[in-house]
Amino acid sequence: MGVKAMLHSYERSALIGNSESWVSLWTHSFPEVEVLIPAEQIQARVAELGAEIAHDYSAENPPLLVGVLKGSLVFLADLMRAIPLPVQYDFVAISSYGAQTEHTGQVRLLKDLDSQIEGCHVLVVEDILDTGLTLHYLLELLRTRHPASLRICTLLRKPERHLVEIPVDYCGFVIPNQFVVGYGLDYNGRYRNLPFIGVLRTTNLEPK
Ligand code: PRP
Repeated sequence: MGVKAMLHSYERSALIGNSESWVSLWTHSFPEVEVLIPAEQIQARVAELGAEIAHDYSAENPPLLVGVLKGSLVFLADLMRAIPLPVQYDFVAISSYGAQTEHTGQVRLLKDLDSQIEGCHVLVVEDILDTGLTLHYLLELLRTRHPASLRICTLLRKPERHLVEIPVDYCGFVIPNQFVVGYGLDYNGRYRNLPFIGVLRTTNLEPK
């Protein structure tokens, strides 16, 4: 069945979530991407992380989720709905890679938080911890603002690539040293909307 026919059948039957036809629709639409972590597995892990976070904080002291744009957007959107506490969220934007796949070593704040964080329980939400340079920079910056606590939640981490040690409190998956896309992660701005994490079937990419 072609993608258009599958899309039609998908619309007609109003299938949602992780049904077989929903998964096929996505994998057929992006044949160049090999699935590494299926959507269903991500959703299950996000639910676990949400429960763990809800257990560690309280309704009186909920976390302020700080997402690092743009990659963390999808993860943060799902994660906050898995935390049954009155959380708030805010974003920073940090540039480190430009359009390249390899870290430049340069880290720059492009957008600061809208809110004050002094006395707040800050939980930084990242899509991936690679070299660690982005989080190292962000943690140093946020510490100067005296939050009541400062923790890290990352969906993915690649230990083989770490250049600095970052104390991670919550981690979704440890992955091998491969260039991954999907669920917020991009290659030249594309693939962020994939509901799964995948690896591009191209061999000349540097791992990220
Ligand atoms: C990616 C990712 C992390 C950072 C991790 O962001 O979202 O923020 O790299 O890499 P590091 O541990 O080596 O510092 P990127 O700069 O690609 O921007 P994006 O989130 O807009 O895709």
